[in-house]
Amino acid sequence: MNIAVLGAMWGDEGKGHITHYLSTKFGWVVRFNGGANAGHTIYRDGKKFVHNLLPSVDFRNPNVKAFLGAGMVIDPEQLLKEVIEAEREYPGVSKRIYVDPDAFVVMPEHKEIDKKTNVHIGSTHRGIGPAYADKIGRRGIRIQDIIKGKHVAGELHVDSLFHMGVNFKHTMELDKEFKNSQILFEGAQGILLDINHGIYPYVSCSDCTVGGIHASGFNVEVSRVYGVAKAYTTKVGEGPFPTELHGKAADNLRELGGEYGATTGRPRRVGWLDLPALRYACRKGGITNLIVTKFDILSGMEEVPVCTEYEKAPMCSADFFDVKPTYTNIPGWTDCNDIPQVAPMLSAIEQGSGVEVTYISCGTDAKDIHMV
Ligand code: IMP
Ligand code: MG
Repeated sequence: MNIAVLGAMWGDEGKGHITHYLSTKFGWVVRFNGGANAGHTIYRDGKKFVHNLLPSVDFRNPNVKAFLGAGMVIDPEQLLKEVIEAEREYPGVSKRIYVDPDAFVVMPEHKEIDKKTNVHIGSTHRGIGPAYADKIGRRGIRIQDIIKGKHVAGELHVDSLFHMGVNFKHTMELDKEFKNSQILFEGAQGILLDINHGIYPYVSCSDCTVGGIHASGFNVEVSRVYGVAKAYTTKVGEGPFPTELHGKAADNLRELGGEYGATTGRPRRVGWLDLPALRYACRKGGITNLIVTKFDILSGMEEVPVCTEYEKAPMCSADFFDVKPTYTNIPGWTDCNDIPQVAPMLSAIEQGSGVEVTYISCGTDAKDIHMV
C-alpha cells in the first residue's frame, strides 16, 4: 500500500515527525515538491534534526530508500550538506539516496532574486519562486543538465554527491522497484500554500496536494492520503489567517508550542484551529485521513476555542480574505495520551473537516503518536 503525508494547512504541522515514524514500514520515502523552503523537524534518540531537502526518512530501517522527485527544485549545495550530515550518522547511507535528474536546480541567483522580489509574500528566500518561474518559463536548468556537463554553479556539489554514492535515476528506471515496494510520499509546505489551490498570491510555487505526486511522475495508486494538522494553527509569511491571535494570547501560544520557523527561525503567526479552512484543504488536497499533532501544547486548558464556521463557507481561495470566524469552545483535556479526554476535540475536528482522524500526536517522540 502506498500512502501520502501532506501538510493540511500552512505547513509546519509536524509532517517530518509523522513521516519519520511511519517510514519504518516503507521501502521508499519520496519528496515530490518544493525545495529547501521546507523545514522538516525530526527527533531521534533525543537529538533534533532538520531536513530541508532530504525526505524525513528513519534510516535506522535498513530497507528504506529516499527519493527526491522531479517536482522538486533542488539547491545542490544544500543537498550536499544534508547528505554529509546523514553520512556522519549512518556511514554508507548515500547509496540509499536517489535524485530524479528531471528535478530543477536552484541557482545562487534565484536566492538573490527571491530576496529582492518576494518580501511582500514573506518568502523563505530559498530561491523557490524564481527557480519555478524559470522552469515554467522553459529556461530552467535541471539536474540532468549538470550531469551532462552544462557548466553552472552547483556542478561541483552534484559531482561530490555522485562520488559519495548518491544515485541519479529517473522514475522509469526504478519502475519495477517502485511497483514491488511500498512508497510513502512526503509532501512539503501545505495545501493552503499550494500554487493552484492555496490562498493566492500568498502561496509557495509547487503542487502541495495529492496531485503533486502524479505530477512528479509516479503513476501509482495512493491508498491513503494523510493530512497533518495541528490542534491549533500556525502560519509563517503574509496573507489571510482568519483565526489569528494577537498580543499576549499569541505570545503565550507561540512560546508554549515553540513556534519558530525551522528554516528561517522566524516567529510563526499563531491562532486557533480553523475547521472551515481544514475542510477546504481536505477537499482540495485529496486528504482521506487526518493526523492531528501538538495536542500536548493545549493540555490543561479548560476549554479550547475552535473556529467552526465563517459567515460563508469558502468555495475558493479568494473566499479566505476578510472572513468572520465563529468559535465554539470544546471541553479541554489534562492528558492527551488519555484518548477519551480528547474525544470531544476529535469529534469536533471530524465533523468540521468531514474527514476521519486516524492518529494524534502528543509530543516529539515516536511513543507520543497514538492511533485513535
Ligand atoms: P517561498 O516558498 O519560500 O517562496 O515562501 C512562500 C510562502 O510560503 C511564505 O509565506 C513562506 O513562509 C511559506 N512557506 C514556504 N515553505 C514553507 C514551509 O515549509 N512551512 C511553512 N511555510 C512555508
Ligand atoms: Mg516546517
